[in-house]
Amino acid sequence: MHYILGHARNRNRKEDGERTMITKRIQLLTAIALGIAAVAAISWCSVARAEERPIALDTTTTNATVTALSTNTQLVIHADQGKNIISRNIYGHFSEHLGRCIYEGIWVEPDSAIPNTRGIRNDVVEALKKIKVPVLRWPGGCFADEYHWKDGIGQREKRPSMINTHWGGVTENNHFGTHEFLDFCEQIGTAPYVSGNLGSGTPQEIMEWVEYMTSDASSPMANLRRENGREQPWKIPFFAVGNENWGCGGNMTPEFYADNFRRYNTFVKNYGSNRIYRVACGSNGGDTNWTEVLMKNVGQRMNGLSLHYYTLPTGNWSGKKGSATEFGENQWHSTLRRALEMNNIINNHSAIMDKYDPQKRIGMIVDEWGTWYDVEPGSNPGFLYQQSTIRDALVAGVTLNIFNNHCDRVKMANIAQLINVLQAVILTDKEKMLLTPTYWVFEMYTVHHDATLLPIELKCADYELGDKKVQSVNASASRDKDGKIHVTLCNLNPNQPVEIACDLQGAKPRIITGRVLTAPTMQTHNTFDQPNNVKPADFKDCKLITGGFTVTLPSKSVVALELVE
Ligand code: AHR
Repeated sequence: MHYILGHARNRNRKEDGERTMITKRIQLLTAIALGIAAVAAISWCSVARAEERPIALDTTTTNATVTALSTNTQLVIHADQGKNIISRNIYGHFSEHLGRCIYEGIWVEPDSAIPNTRGIRNDVVEALKKIKVPVLRWPGGCFADEYHWKDGIGQREKRPSMINTHWGGVTENNHFGTHEFLDFCEQIGTAPYVSGNLGSGTPQEIMEWVEYMTSDASSPMANLRRENGREQPWKIPFFAVGNENWGCGGNMTPEFYADNFRRYNTFVKNYGSNRIYRVACGSNGGDTNWTEVLMKNVGQRMNGLSLHYYTLPTGNWSGKKGSATEFGENQWHSTLRRALEMNNIINNHSAIMDKYDPQKRIGMIVDEWGTWYDVEPGSNPGFLYQQSTIRDALVAGVTLNIFNNHCDRVKMANIAQLINVLQAVILTDKEKMLLTPTYWVFEMYTVHHDATLLPIELKCADYELGDKKVQSVNASASRDKDGKIHVTLCNLNPNQPVEIACDLQGAKPRIITGRVLTAPTMQTHNTFDQPNNVKPADFKDCKLITGGFTVTLPSKSVVALELVE
């Protein structure tokens, strides 16, 4: 409770956001004249930020290269202008000792009737391999600043217990510790991102943990690891020095935290060939002062600065957040509106980071994001268990597009959380498992991993409800290592399909294919009895035309297109 109130105090959100504006004449689409008639109702939507200037729409252009279309939604893809790589780590995940994420979700003990490998569920491992999880954050979250890693090594039956004070006050038996987490990472083929305890731990604890995991020497901690059955050190590419230290991680001021980062980080050593990317605790959504102080006082001592932002339908941390499955169009609209706010938040923090780090050497690490609803009725309020509908798929789709479009600064992101907690990609019920709509978005977007971002311009109508509006379409595009172009598009409107005309510049594709994720109602979700209610299907509503392609997005859908030259 104390923790939740802390959030209520800290998390104020701006309601409406600015629109990113980009100029570039659009010399295409002859019959845009039809759409132009309705130009008053049209706004320019989010785009890759090649340039940020007001738009001058040229309504007089007649030398269009794309076949005539009566659509108001126009997309330009600059397939010949890609320069920034979309780090696959933007598609990262987060697993905390919280509710049923670790225990039951991942860990079932080796003697469980649920099929497992050394205590880790096989069904979950198989599902996660398919979305190519690039990086996994652990052990928290708020839990990280109470976690003492030595409690989680050695013979499991002898490990001490603790109370998980943040999350339901349950007893943590420490059966899932360093070896089990790193075994899980190896089983799913992901890079570990370990969060150190700065809030209640010591610099020595952090120093010894890093030595335990990564040293190959004959040193006390490396030898202890060997005694516990692991001869070779692990590679630990990412290490966070504290979590939410403005709140659950110690209620610190940014100045106090910055000094503490400098101290603790000194003891995070690089052993052998292991090189650690050090992440400092960043701001809570709108708090730009935190970013300013950290950039100024810590600067190049960190490699990454984190940022946390959650989407609540009501925006109310201390009261009703909104139900995951029982909502009307009002909350559909407000949820997507608040999810899109991520773009402004990134812009605001980027502007400060640019001031101190114009070379963009320090990465923005959005290591917690996603929807946060009221817990499922009847479940433990401290376990943050929620269902996930097609609305969550849209939140994931637009957020990942936003990250792609900001890949010059956003170097990693971790959705909260992997299994059974908040916007999970997997839900379990004892031996049963289901894949949520969010899982399928991650699966469809794997094509963007390490691809080159292609700048886009997008003009679309607003989706309005009452006096609120959001852009109806959201997109990003990339070119992969084989030269294929991938475009991911979201239609936020739950009632209307949208037809898009795309001017594809600098590429002449021969083949276009697509997949779509949509559902009959806004509330549709997968259940343990009906696990395939929301699942991607082949998509045919796209076709190549001279100079580009056309596509019609169904209402409330996420579409992934592939273009091959
Ligand atoms: O993801 C749940 C919690 O949200 C994390 O433990 C904390 O860091 C954040 O406030």
